[in-house]
Amino acid sequence: MSAVLKLTDLQPTPDDISGDVLAGLSRHPKRLPSKYFYDRRGSELFEEITRQPEYYLTRIELALLEASMAQIAEAVGARAHVVEYGSGSGRKTRILLDGLDDPVAYTPIEISRSALLASVERLDREFGDVEVLPVCADFTQPVPLPRPRRAADHALVFFPGSTLGNFTDTEAVRLLRAMHQTMGNRGGALLGIDLQKSPAIIEPAYNDANGVTAKFTLNLLARLNRDIGSDFDLDGFAHRAEYVENAGRIETFLVSRRAQDVTVEGHVFHFGAGEAMQVEYSQKYTDAGFSGLAGLAGLKVVRAWNDPQDWFGLRLLRRD
Ligand code: AVJ
Repeated sequence: MSAVLKLTDLQPTPDDISGDVLAGLSRHPKRLPSKYFYDRRGSELFEEITRQPEYYLTRIELALLEASMAQIAEAVGARAHVVEYGSGSGRKTRILLDGLDDPVAYTPIEISRSALLASVERLDREFGDVEVLPVCADFTQPVPLPRPRRAADHALVFFPGSTLGNFTDTEAVRLLRAMHQTMGNRGGALLGIDLQKSPAIIEPAYNDANGVTAKFTLNLLARLNRDIGSDFDLDGFAHRAEYVENAGRIETFLVSRRAQDVTVEGHVFHFGAGEAMQVEYSQKYTDAGFSGLAGLAGLKVVRAWNDPQDWFGLRLLRRD
């Protein structure tokens, strides 16, 4: 990391993680929050998922972003402070910063410190004119934005990858409301959303033949064992992901292979044989469904871009 880069560090502490995990394990059915997938190993495994042939989302979104970039730049306007929720590999960020008209600053908000530092180092070297102001934090909570040296005309929140889909509708509306605050009166938000389509396309994306997604799901347990001292037996759980058509979402579980006890912070949790613990949702949207969520947060869809097969969409939101 270069000496001039200032990092605002609001990374969750072991106490935050324990609190969330104890609360989730006390529910029926049990659940664990998917935001904790992204430690160093989890971020690496997610990158590997994006290279699996079945995982169409990243490839299609990248192509769509390239193809729509001139229109996006026109709709967004000059001198934006780009605020990205999650920093990912930086490939999408690069297309956006290259394509926008004179972007002033770039603020990735990322829960994984290692992923944040890796992406920021690369971008800082590449984009000399764009001030990089990273924030290590959980973007589901309100985050104060660092102020760029050169004044921005407006903020543009960038939330690609259909990551909104990892939140329940209630949580998504809360997140969109926070985003609404962050982007201010003149701001906008550009979101990537995976669209509803045949389960024959969606389900394999979360059950790749190489088993990378299964490793990614199980890594959550390894991460918790390391960071909060839980004693999950990784061989005692199996990955299961299924598309629930009436809900329009992938639901991912860790299924207990046998009856077993797990201890977290001195609390013992019993798992029955075959008991399914819910670990992730990946919502797939209809246009009406997505506009409805945005509307509940006081936002409206002002521009929409889809790939030629209508598998994935980009949506530009502004205040209603
Ligand atoms: C984080 C939303 C991009 O839900 O598709 C991929 C995470 N989980 N495979 C998704 C994920 C399992 C992913 N996003």
